[in-house]
Amino acid sequence: MADARPFHWEFKPEPVAREVLRIEGGRRLEGSVSISGAKNAALKLMAAATLTGERCRFTNVPEIEDVRVLTEVLRDIGVTVDHPAPNVYEIASGDAEWLFVPLEAAAKMRASFILLGPLLSRFGRVIISNPGGDRIGRRPVNLHVDAMRALGAEIEYRNGYYFAKAPGRLRGGPVNFPQITVMGTENAMLAATLADGHTVIEPAAQEPEVDDLIEFLQKMGAQVERTAPNRIEIEGRRRLRGADHSVVPDRIETGTFIVAAGVTHGRITLEGAPYDHLGTFLNVMAEVGVSVSRTKDAIEVDATAADITPLRSCNVETQPYPGLATDLQPPTCVLLTQATGVSHVHESVFEDRLEWLGELRRMGAGVEIVDQHHAIIEGPTRLHGAEVEIGDLRAGASLILAALAADGVTTIGGAHHVHRGYEKIDAKFLELGARIERLAEGT
Ligand code: UD1
Repeated sequence: MADARPFHWEFKPEPVAREVLRIEGGRRLEGSVSISGAKNAALKLMAAATLTGERCRFTNVPEIEDVRVLTEVLRDIGVTVDHPAPNVYEIASGDAEWLFVPLEAAAKMRASFILLGPLLSRFGRVIISNPGGDRIGRRPVNLHVDAMRALGAEIEYRNGYYFAKAPGRLRGGPVNFPQITVMGTENAMLAATLADGHTVIEPAAQEPEVDDLIEFLQKMGAQVERTAPNRIEIEGRRRLRGADHSVVPDRIETGTFIVAAGVTHGRITLEGAPYDHLGTFLNVMAEVGVSVSRTKDAIEVDATAADITPLRSCNVETQPYPGLATDLQPPTCVLLTQATGVSHVHESVFEDRLEWLGELRRMGAGVEIVDQHHAIIEGPTRLHGAEVEIGDLRAGASLILAALAADGVTTIGGAHHVHRGYEKIDAKFLELGARIERLAEGT
């Protein structure tokens, strides 16, 4: 088996140039933007394509860094990935030469771990890097590994790698998660589609991107169904076929632009935005005083009334879907800095997602980080330009929002992080009348 190969691997993703964004804030954003396909669906759909040797075709794929990295990882294991036109990807996994997902891939993108389930189930083995490295306790993957074991996989952990084998086919069975996990649900579901027998996943994540994946798997001939809001059942098949699919629009990008309208007292039309997928976020917007309405193919956001009637504070708690998405917690916090009164923020999903508020404070926000899960925001504050640094994707987009609302010029270092998950974010803001410039670091 592949264990004989050394750990050294030639996978060298193109280095990403460090970038700075320079934003002159204080302008009302107005106009229309198109919402891209969802990152968190596209990556899983591309992984699902490895479940068959036949060609799969995806449209509405966001042109983002994470998709590029996954493309490179797939090509390195011998999968053909064609990119015939912008936002279109075709994947054919006739055979995989070398079932190895290296540390370099995992370090760049935690979502590379989604390849565990499909590769193991289709090819019977895979060696995959632990994306959490040795930082146990911080974004671990234990639930994914336990789910694979529940389906009959043998998995050993050595030197930062999981060595996974399926003696014969994986076996369907109950997969019971002690807590809700989005990618854990997806990994188990992908593995179970080719397993022998019936699998019941409970509690299963309810995010719209999970349902998009179910829809695609059904087109591939998989027998998979959500039989209760938090239960997914799968009857394993011997083989699946190729299929075409258009990626569901990105609800997190949508929420980000809704907040952009809110903090600049603007009016924005979001073409192709998924109104039905915004869950609790819409209730928060209503409570704060940002008007969000749907038209046939778009969402209209109007925050111009905030010129006269101040935005209102609101207590928020992140939760698995349909609760407030943890990925929308950072944008929501920026909005709350512009609201009158005290807002309590409870980040219940992750323990490292409030740290970025320190950067927001450098722009004048009245923020107190109480502990890893709680913060208090007192507003309204006039944010001012500053030099800030982006540490991760969602916080990055939120610092852009803060800069758009702020008086003066903000320079945001580490801006390349944002391109991991947002297609042409600077161009989209320019269209809306923002003053935003993308510069190589050091210029
Ligand atoms: C996905 C999304 C991410 C989003 C998150 C929660 C992708 C690529 N990413 O991440 O944008 O913020 O859902 O909506 O889809 N956990 C464990 N062990 C595990 C797995 C998870 O303890 O094996 C914990 C996590 O640390 C976290 C919680 O479970 O506290 C939920 O995480 P999970 O839903 O798994 O997030 P991801 O699927 O990684």
